[in-house]
Amino acid sequence: MMRLDRFLGENGFGTRQECKKMIRNGRVKVNNCIAKESDIRINEENDVITVDNVLIEYEKFHYLMLNKPKDYVCSAHELGQESILSLIHETYALDLFPIGRLDKDTVGLLILTNDGQLSHMLLAPSKHVEKEYEVQLREELREETIEAFACGIDIGDDKPTLPAQLVQGATSKEALVTLHEGRFHQIKRMFEACNNEVIGLKRIRMKNIVLDENLEPGSYRKLSEEEIRGLKGNE
Ligand code: URA
Repeated sequence: MMRLDRFLGENGFGTRQECKKMIRNGRVKVNNCIAKESDIRINEENDVITVDNVLIEYEKFHYLMLNKPKDYVCSAHELGQESILSLIHETYALDLFPIGRLDKDTVGLLILTNDGQLSHMLLAPSKHVEKEYEVQLREELREETIEAFACGIDIGDDKPTLPAQLVQGATSKEALVTLHEGRFHQIKRMFEACNNEVIGLKRIRMKNIVLDENLEPGSYRKLSEEEIRGLKGNE
């Protein structure tokens, strides 16, 4: 059960005030009767809600891709820090969280959802979900580093990292890295262990989800049905 104005808000009909106005203007029907009050409670899964006689399909789960800009943190409340959640329209922001985190200075693909089960599945270490990054390096990439990444590296944790793919990018100071796990500062620590330094990091893919080149830093879009299917699938 939820309030009618909140239901409209969560389905993209604007702010609470805008939704209230739509209801006041008689544009919203619940089970074929014009709704008179914003605060009536509806059963979002069974009641038939229309706006201007168009059926609103209830979406329980939301899935977004965000192009994370620099200087935003992934946690919701860190004193004095700007959160990525502040970039998301308020109607979504209510219950969304990112699937995994990026460092404050890392940019690129973040998937946000309120689907805890999917998030859990994608972050489970046993699943080895692929994440791909573009890396800018202080020093030129060396052959030994590529070999070390392919073997796994001791970065001071209990266990060495899993093997990771590392290929040179457009220049000798650029690289593409594919990880199958997600440890704290992992890529930075792996390069540090190889006497190099990460000076720029951008995630461009998580499993089947490739960062949309049309998304400016700070903007986001819904995932398509096909993208969501791929994300949930086993392949
Ligand atoms: N590896 C890092 O070092 N930082 C990130 O944000 C992601 C991967």
